Amino acid sequence: MTVPAENVGVQPDVGREQTRDGYERVYVWDLIVRASHWIIMLSIFTLAGTGIYIGDPFLIPSGATNEQFVMGNVKVVHSYAAIVFTLTVAVRIGWMFVGSYYARWREFVPTTARRIRDVFGMLKFYLFLAKKPPLNVGHNPLAGSIYLLVFALYLLMIATGFALYSVSADGYMEMWNFLLPLFGGAQMARWIHHVAMWFILGFFAHHIWSAMLVSKVEGMGLIDSMFSGYKFLPPGWRNRDD
Ligand code: HEM
Ligand code: HEM
Repeated sequence: MTVPAENVGVQPDVGREQTRDGYERVYVWDLIVRASHWIIMLSIFTLAGTGIYIGDPFLIPSGATNEQFVMGNVKVVHSYAAIVFTLTVAVRIGWMFVGSYYARWREFVPTTARRIRDVFGMLKFYLFLAKKPPLNVGHNPLAGSIYLLVFALYLLMIATGFALYSVSADGYMEMWNFLLPLFGGAQMARWIHHVAMWFILGFFAHHIWSAMLVSKVEGMGLIDSMFSGYKFLPPGWRNRDD
């Protein structure tokens, strides 16, 4: 999807329609944001499922050979999912710099006074000190900052994954060998790769819960918006995130 030159770096004014209660239907998440979110989610499920098996191959009795070569097949699936994951994460990170307004890095790093204030407003809401969360058009600034950490975890998975790959790689993939000392060797890289997975899965549990909660209290169609791209916003919110 290409963003028209006049829309790069500006809040979108396209696709706005009045709904019955006066709320406006506003196009917030472009196709790259939505597609990358769901592709990354599916690849994580595949990587976690196969990864847990790689770490604990429960189908093969210890020391026995296996005619079906289960581990080999599981590793092939892990490798292909890793390629999809790595490329999609790279595209999404690049899109933070050239994508549409709400796809940009400012959604993740709170830079304006209002967004910094809203980080604390959101914390208050989660700590039961406020009844309503601060409302935002794009990501709420606390969620945005957490997503930044999630992207850092993605990069850690990719770096430790390629370091592990280089251990048994034959050919040009051996070049990722230089990453191993950075993680303190193969076993340490393996441990970090494994533990970081549980951080991602832990985030996932929280993320679903908070997406449902915030979707309900905001009443702006948050979860639906990750599918359709549209949120329902009070009138006159065009410059809310400036
Ligand atoms: C969110 C993404 C990922 C998750 C959840 C994940 C999960 C796992 C887990 C749990 C293991 C087993 C670790 C252990 O021994 O206990 C593993 C192994 C491995 N992963 Fe990943 N992984 C991910 C991404 C990647 C990526 C991007 C690569 C890049 C090539 C990769 C390559 C590998 C390799 C090479 C192994 C070791 C296989 C072996 O022991 O021969 N992974 N992964
Ligand atoms: C492994 C699973 C998942 C991970 C790692 C994940 C991660 C993320 C990340 C990084 C973002 C920011 C997206 C961006 O701007 O590119 C995001 C946004 C979002 N995700 Fe997920 N997600 C997962 C699953 C889900 C599921 C199952 C749902 C549906 C219930 C969901 C609903 C949303 C929504 C509604 C947003 C926008 C929320 C906001 O503005 O703060 N996600 N997610």
